[in-house]
Amino acid sequence: MSNASPVITIDGPSGSGKGTIASRLAKLLGFTLLDSGALYRVLGLAAERGGLAPGSDNEAIAALARTVEIGFGQPNVDSPWVEGSVWLGSDDVSLAIRTDEAGAMASQVAAIPAVRAALLQRQRDFLGENGLVADGRDMGTTVFPDAALKVFLTASVEARADRRYKQLIGKGIDAILPALLGELKERDARDTQRSASPMKPALDAIIIDSTVMSIEQVMAQITDLAREKLNR
Ligand code: DC
Repeated sequence: MSNASPVITIDGPSGSGKGTIASRLAKLLGFTLLDSGALYRVLGLAAERGGLAPGSDNEAIAALARTVEIGFGQPNVDSPWVEGSVWLGSDDVSLAIRTDEAGAMASQVAAIPAVRAALLQRQRDFLGENGLVADGRDMGTTVFPDAALKVFLTASVEARADRRYKQLIGKGIDAILPALLGELKERDARDTQRSASPMKPALDAIIIDSTVMSIEQVMAQITDLAREKLNR
């Protein structure tokens, strides 16, 4: 990481709003966006399609992590893909990776230490001449420990389940709030308790609790922090 381009990391649990914030911030600053959760989601999908199961096929899943072709449509770059789209080889998996099942599978493959090792450099390679906004669980602790600004964005698990519920109902998808709450708690537990690079705030991260904040309020606070740290 000798590259001097600035990095902003936004870590936190599912439903904290970090995906929306990271994407808006990248666009505002003209930075590249790394949605690291999408990497684990695509890998989970590729493993599933290949008939590989976390637990029994960890070596094969780690081998897949080294070679699988993952593509992103970037917000600012002249890309052959639509902004925000995610690709597995030539297959547009933008929607397939966003289901709760895909999230659970991502969380399982992400707990395999050899998978994390395989994806480490691939994540660092996103840092080019522009700056980078990196969204995930261990961006500030492991992947970009020298980031100029580290944010840990969180919210109560009830507020996060409620946001997910409203999002699904808004899309006309049936959802059961207690079930969503249970799934989120399970995913939080797996992501925080795994041995390899668990989700936790970096010691120098600024913690923002968005439980009673709107996306606009969070965005305003993080934009101010970014301008201050980057002198813009
Ligand atoms: O942010 P997300 O919900 O798209 O992430 C899906 C899963 O991927 C998450 O439950 C844990 C895993 N993940 C991870 O372990 N490390 C990251 N940096 C990003 C995601």
